[in-house]
Formats: sequence, structure tokens, C-alpha cells
Amino acid sequence: MRQWIDKLRQEKTLQSEEFRQLLTKCDAETLRHINKQAQEVSLQHFGNKIYIRGLIEVSNYCRNNCFYCGIRKGNPHIKRYRLSMESILDCCKEGYALGFRTFVLQGGEDPGLTDDRIEAIVVAIREQYPDCAITLSLGEKPYETYQRFFQAGANRYLLRHETYNEIHYSQLHPAEMSCKHRIQCLRNLKEIGYQTGSGIMVGSPGQTVEHLIQDILFIEKLRPEMIGIGPFLPHHDTPFAQFPNGTVEQTLLLLSIFRLMHPSALIPATTALATLAPDGRERGILAGANVVMPNLSPRDERKKYELYNNKASLGAESAEGLILLQKQLQSIGYEISTDRGDFKHEMLKN
Ligand code: 5AD
Repeated sequence: MRQWIDKLRQEKTLQSEEFRQLLTKCDAETLRHINKQAQEVSLQHFGNKIYIRGLIEVSNYCRNNCFYCGIRKGNPHIKRYRLSMESILDCCKEGYALGFRTFVLQGGEDPGLTDDRIEAIVVAIREQYPDCAITLSLGEKPYETYQRFFQAGANRYLLRHETYNEIHYSQLHPAEMSCKHRIQCLRNLKEIGYQTGSGIMVGSPGQTVEHLIQDILFIEKLRPEMIGIGPFLPHHDTPFAQFPNGTVEQTLLLLSIFRLMHPSALIPATTALATLAPDGRERGILAGANVVMPNLSPRDERKKYELYNNKASLGAESAEGLILLQKQLQSIGYEISTDRGDFKHEMLKN
């Protein structure tokens, strides 16, 4: 197993069969080893600095009905909200003062959040905060719409592909949604010039090792600048309420595999991982993650943006908890960086 981990670090890829072995036969000691290797690669590229992104959850309306997601259209039990431009700009103001230089505008695919409105919001943030990066995470849009937002000043876009396997995709999403369309969106985003993020939920219902290998190989080809990997966590008001969550170990293993394959990618220790385990964020960083995304949404709305049960949004997971986050990072030898943290092409060698 160790020799494959060394090979993965050196050659940045493996044969499918070798990935399969790694994914099926990774015991606690092997996991520690690959996490350590991935942490070293992350340290080589980023030092002990962790980039922070202020997450603003702009709307929990969604036209989609993804089986795993708490803000799916078919959930009648959540109160829907949509932030006004003023409220979003207030979040940015608060975030800027705290040191954030990236704002992530995330939301459901909300028909009420029109292209005009999003464009106006991006223009306003770009004007008021010329030194900040604007990341959008608003789902699938036509090419022209992505282009408009880019021209308005957005720099990055997050759109996890969730799974590259079409059959598995159709087990996670209703028939109106397609894996092909999502992948096309990702290619469009890259072509337009966004720093693009993709990724998966680990342990989603129906996911097999074969699917994970396909995800790894897809991401290897796409070469996204950002890779988001978090455990699946059930939400009580979804069709997947009774499914078990993904595990910390499998999430950390995949995180490390992606770090070894993509040394300069921006990889967050996700909120889902921090929700699953009290030390999830730290363990993510020690397995190769180099980004955290504290919640900058208005306090009153945070509970309503529940993608899965018990989603963390307070303490070190919140923008106002930055001091606590700093302390936690210090305890494992890391520091917050208030740089914008754009993707940089690889310059170092292993
Ligand atoms: N568990 C874990 N992650 C989830 N997401 C949505 N619902 C869940 C869930 N139940 C993730 C998806 C989406 C991102 C914004 O949140 O991967 O892309």
C-alpha cells in the first residue's frame, strides 16, 4: 500500500486497480500515512497558511429536488428566504472588516434570484471591494449567464458534479437533472475563465468504489482549481433521511488522494466534515486541506440553510468565531491567511 501512496505522490496518478486497492484496503495506519504525505504536499505549496472564504448563503429557494438536499423544492418544512442586495453587502462589510478577501455567494437554484439581480449584486461587490475575489455557487446556468456574471466581476464558481456515474447520478437526482448537463456546465465555466470548483459527497446513497474511481479520474481530467469533498449527511426531511452518513475516514482518504494528485488545488476542510466530527476541520487540514469557509450569512437565516442535519454554522464555523478558529488552527501549527488565495499554477516539485 505504501508503495502506491509514494507512487501517487510522485506520479500524481495510479492505475484504476491501484486506486481500487487503496479505496478498499486502507486500514488506520495506511490512512495516517497517506494523510501525512498529503499534508506534506500541502505544506510545500501553501506553507502553514489556511485561506479563509466568507460564505454568504443568499437564498434557500430551489427549483431542484435533489434527493439528498434539505433545501430541495419538495421540502415544505423549511422557511424560505432570499437576501436583499443590502443584506448581502452588509455581510461583505462585516466580512471585510474581519479580514475576508473572498466572498462566496451560495444559494439554491432560485428563479427569484434573476440574472439581472445577481449581476447587479456582483457589480456592487466588485465596485465596493475591488481587492476581493467573488465566488459564485448558484448551480447550473446557461453559458451566456455564466459569461455575464464573469464579466460583471465574478472570479470563481463552485459546482460539485456530485458523481460522475450516470446511473448513480440518477439515483441522487430526479429525472429532470442530468449528469451530462452538469459536466457541460463545468466545462463552460472553465472555458469562460472562472477558477472552477467541483467535487463530490463521500458515502452518498448508492455510491460504490467504482463510482469513486470514476470521480477521481474525471477530476484528474477536468483539473478544477478547487475540489470540494465532504461526507454525505442525511437530512430528516428528504427521501434519504434514513441513509447512513459518509465516514470521516473515507472523506479524509479521498481528500488526501486529491491533494496528492492536485498539489496546488484549493481544497477546503468542509463544513460537512466539521459537522460530522468535532475535530473534523483540523483532521481535514492534517489530511491536505488548505481552505476553510466560515459562515458569514445573517445569523437569523443560518438555520434555514440546512442542507443536512445539524449543519454547523456557529463557533469556529462562523465568521464572528474567527478568533476561535485561529486558536484551533494554531493548536495544530497553522495560521489564517487573509490573502485572496487565488489558484496558482504549480511551481514546486515534490
Ligand atoms: N450532505 C452532505 N452534503 C450535501 N450537500 C447537499 N446536501 C448534502 C447532504 N445531505 C452538498 C452538495 C452541494 C453542496 C453545496 O452541498 O455536494 O454541492
